[in-house]
Amino acid sequence: MRVKLRHDKHMALYRHIAEEFRTRIAKGELPPGTRLPTVRALAREVGTTRLTIHNAYRELQTDGLIESVVGRGTFVSSQAQPTAQPSFGERLEPDSVLSDLHRLQHTRVLHNLALATADPALFPYEAFWACLEAFKPLAREVFGYGSVMGEPELRVSLSELLEQRGVRADPEEVLVTVGGLQGLALVCRALAEPGEEVLLEEPTYLGLLGILKQFRLKPLPVPLDAEGPRLEELEALLKRHRPRFYYTIPSYHNPTGLRFHEERLKRLLELGQTYGFTLVEDDTLGLLSYEKIPPTPLLALAQKMGLEDRVVHLASLSKALMPGLRIGYLVAPPVLLERFTALHNVSDITGPPPLLQRTAAQFIRQGGLKQHLRQVIPIYKKRRDVLLQALKRHMPEGVRWSHPEGGFSCWVSLPRLFSNLELHHQALAQGVAITPGEVFLVQADETMHFRLCFGAETSEGLEEGVKELAKLICLRVSHERA
Ligand SMILES: Cc1ncc(COP(=O)(O)O)c(C=O)c1O
Repeated sequence: MRVKLRHDKHMALYRHIAEEFRTRIAKGELPPGTRLPTVRALAREVGTTRLTIHNAYRELQTDGLIESVVGRGTFVSSQAQPTAQPSFGERLEPDSVLSDLHRLQHTRVLHNLALATADPALFPYEAFWACLEAFKPLAREVFGYGSVMGEPELRVSLSELLEQRGVRADPEEVLVTVGGLQGLALVCRALAEPGEEVLLEEPTYLGLLGILKQFRLKPLPVPLDAEGPRLEELEALLKRHRPRFYYTIPSYHNPTGLRFHEERLKRLLELGQTYGFTLVEDDTLGLLSYEKIPPTPLLALAQKMGLEDRVVHLASLSKALMPGLRIGYLVAPPVLLERFTALHNVSDITGPPPLLQRTAAQFIRQGGLKQHLRQVIPIYKKRRDVLLQALKRHMPEGVRWSHPEGGFSCWVSLPRLFSNLELHHQALAQGVAITPGEVFLVQADETMHFRLCFGAETSEGLEEGVKELAKLICLRVSHERA
């Protein structure tokens, strides 16, 4: 049996080996009952130690994919069936797509370009765990209800983190939320009543579209160009509507990866002042910058212009650190902060578990986040480059894409060669997961779009994934021409 390894120096060798077997079992190439090579033989073939192979087999055994029979050897287990194609995108509603995306994380697809997430293989588990252990003597304290606004230590750390982004916010002005999503839900509930209108960019973060739907708020889409929201269209909307707020993702917008130009943001703030609406800035991806000079947040610009009362700034540690912490935070003018806190108190009592908040505070204070970002940003930047080069190499004429300078997303646009979800399903059948563009849009247009994410896939996976996608698109182009 030849074992082909995916090269990624950031993944331990035993995980490469386990991954290779997992993929082949999922594809049905190694049916139940197949005998695997002995540890000794495989170690020789791969050119590694027996311990490495033992570790790989142990991981597969834990996952129930293989089993050892004393005296006979190691076999693919009888429960290890080839993975059926995950049903995906049966409905194009945000809640259904979000749950499909998260399910994909636990489903074996060969190349997952669908999820805008950090790579779990790069999470700083060890250092974080060491911080967590230190709280054992304080167990009584950290397993009680925490404080409504968040653990004071974390609010201090977040205030310092915000300062590094150019935002002035005292710890008392920071509210800790359960991920960025809860911050968004609080803002929507506090700032608007069902039936009212809110402005947002087209396309926009699909989680926000889901929340608007849940609270029965009406989205008013503002088109984007390469520099940010198109202000003429925005002004035209403002003359006819009374939106409650404008939701914006200026720093590495999801799904396009765009960084909005500062002049646009200043004009946006002026429009907020003239027409009297709040700007809700989502800075969840702002720390993941691949540029020499990271973007200035909208709130920092507003503070320079004396317009900070117009801005709610919210963010999360999900992309820059680890999403399982569920730590988000927001900064708002005092009146709004009071309203958000009251709502938070009624519905949630507190934010994320105090243990995790205190650990995250300690981790940030001792420089863990800074160090982590220093390590992972060059890796994500390289993956971004690989994705862009692969698109350039393989995609046919007529396909366009954004050039993300940060974050995890790239937005691809092409003439409507496929019906809704058709490309998406065809790609899945080839083992490539992408996110269909429709789910980020309020009004789908004639152009077809999809999002490709490069955070959690290796360079090799990105190259292969784009190649498969391009094949499907080229095939359709040649059918159209025939
Ligand atoms: C722009 C944006 N805001 C908010 C979130 C939600 O973040 P969290 O996982 O912290 O709830 C995401 C997650 O993808 C996002 O992309």
